[in-house]
Amino acid sequence: VPEIRPFEETDRHELRALAAYAGQGSPSESLWGHMESEAAVYLDPYLDLEPESVFVALQDGALVGYLCGCLDTAAFPSEDDRIVKAVREYRLLLRPAMMGFFARSALDLASARVRRQRTAGAVEDARWPAHLHMNVAAPARGTGAADGLMNRWLDRLQETGSPGCHLQTLVENTRAVRFFERMGFVRYGDTPLVPGIRYHGRRLHQQTMVWTP
Ligand SMILES: CC(C)(COP(=O)(O)OP(=O)(O)OC[C@H]1O[C@@H](n2cnc3c(N)ncnc32)[C@H](O)[C@@H]1OP(=O)(O)O)[C@@H](O)C(=O)NCCC(=O)NCCS
Repeated sequence: VPEIRPFEETDRHELRALAAYAGQGSPSESLWGHMESEAAVYLDPYLDLEPESVFVALQDGALVGYLCGCLDTAAFPSEDDRIVKAVREYRLLLRPAMMGFFARSALDLASARVRRQRTAGAVEDARWPAHLHMNVAAPARGTGAADGLMNRWLDRLQETGSPGCHLQTLVENTRAVRFFERMGFVRYGDTPLVPGIRYHGRRLHQQTMVWTP
């Protein structure tokens, strides 16, 4: 049975290493193929700004999964701002893989505009001010590590009196959607295209899900 506990500063190095492969095999695996800068967007700000909302799962003393929560999304740097900062800091515009990502993004945004279709965007809704990201390494999936992490986060939401929590995954990430549904999240809103990313060559769609205590 995996151990679940709050993040401690001494976990940071091992957690960063875990984050580089914990998504493997899922459509959410990688955005632009550069794990350092992806961690700078989806991991580091949570460890720096809200470490008490980060939980880790351990098996035989090693980290196998983590959940990064945020109680008040409106007060947290936006995903777009975090991406812009990472693009600057890591000089991503000079990286060939990033150019592919930007080219695909531009193409996807243009074709969506032609079809008058909305593309993926953030949730700003007072009903669900909190949000989360989570990943469990492949060998630890189906072991209860994910359930343990989510239960600790849901406890924290209850303890802090949060009105609710949202998350954004991909329609194509069927395992994640089923897991979140089992934990009490429900699908919410439409499922717009996520520009720039592909999985086995296919376009991917955003699935917003919400939880209310
Ligand atoms: C999403 C994640 C946290 C879920 O944790 P988990 O331990 O794998 O969850 P479960 O084993 O309970 O699987 C969830 C459901 O998917 C089913 N499932 C198992 N293998 C599957 C597969 N290969 N494809 C689709 N569904 C699968 C399970 O049977 C279960 O369904 P059920 O509840 O109806 O029985 C974990 O798989 C993970 O971290 N994946 C990679 C990264 C990721 O997708 N993160 C979320 C991004 S938003």
